[in-house]
Amino acid sequence: MEEKMAAFRELLKKSERVAVLTGAGISAESGVPTFRGDDGLWQNYRAMDLATPQAFARDPELVWQFYNWRRDLISKVTYNPAHKALAELENLVPNFTIITQNVDGLHLLAGSRNIIEIHGNLWKVRCTRCHAITMDRSPDLGNSPKCRSCGGPLRPHVVWFGESLDLDILQRAVDVSRQCQVMLVIGTSGLVQPAASLALEAKSAGAVLAEIDLGSTPHSRFMDFGFQGKAGDIVPRLVEGCA
Ligand code: OAD
Repeated sequence: MEEKMAAFRELLKKSERVAVLTGAGISAESGVPTFRGDDGLWQNYRAMDLATPQAFARDPELVWQFYNWRRDLISKVTYNPAHKALAELENLVPNFTIITQNVDGLHLLAGSRNIIEIHGNLWKVRCTRCHAITMDRSPDLGNSPKCRSCGGPLRPHVVWFGESLDLDILQRAVDVSRQCQVMLVIGTSGLVQPAASLALEAKSAGAVLAEIDLGSTPHSRFMDFGFQGKAGDIVPRLVEGCA
């Protein structure tokens, strides 16, 4: 493992364009549940009842209960050494972008600046009537929050199952993936599209890929470097010594 890490570090040091694709696994050590692990959210809750436009149309109060529970949980946790190491790496690489599937905002909290949040942000709400997007960090918004401008029902500004990603945001993520020299893929099961295909975009455009995950994923066989273990252990070790 040490030799492989040293080889990857040398590559990172020489790279001018680095992209990072993150998933729930990077926030697991902060205490944010993943989706598909043994204690994952989708083991205990039915995504179709809580994270689809149909669920919101049927029972907005239930959906808000779920999101208020997640807001409360995430308001009590903070970034971990993996988030922090990525924020440090951004200062060392001329062109550095994090593409995250996470809605928890922990990359920003850790000090990262160039972040593309492809699945939205838990701390943002969107009016279903006037479509205004606002930031609201209260841990509990109640079961039927209303828009301050027009009084319309608010929804979480996150991407639900069955919804398309914002096309401009997706395009930026695809461009970054096609242009990077190195992509780190951290803590994602690689099962949700189109996020999962970004790693393949990078690979087919010639980037070197490295995966950091507890186990193996559908991405693993495309990787040039695989580091199995906790992101909070491995990412700081990869970054230290890059300065
Ligand atoms: P998953 O829960 O599907 O996968 C989490 C990945 O992180 C798995 O591969 C784990 O092995 C790995 N992992 C867990 N703990 C880790 C640790 N400490 N260090 C390193 N790796 C660890 O989460 P995502 O891939 O992010 O979408 O899920 C993708 C999307 O599915 C989410 O953005 C969400 C979900 O439904 C929407 O809500 C639209």
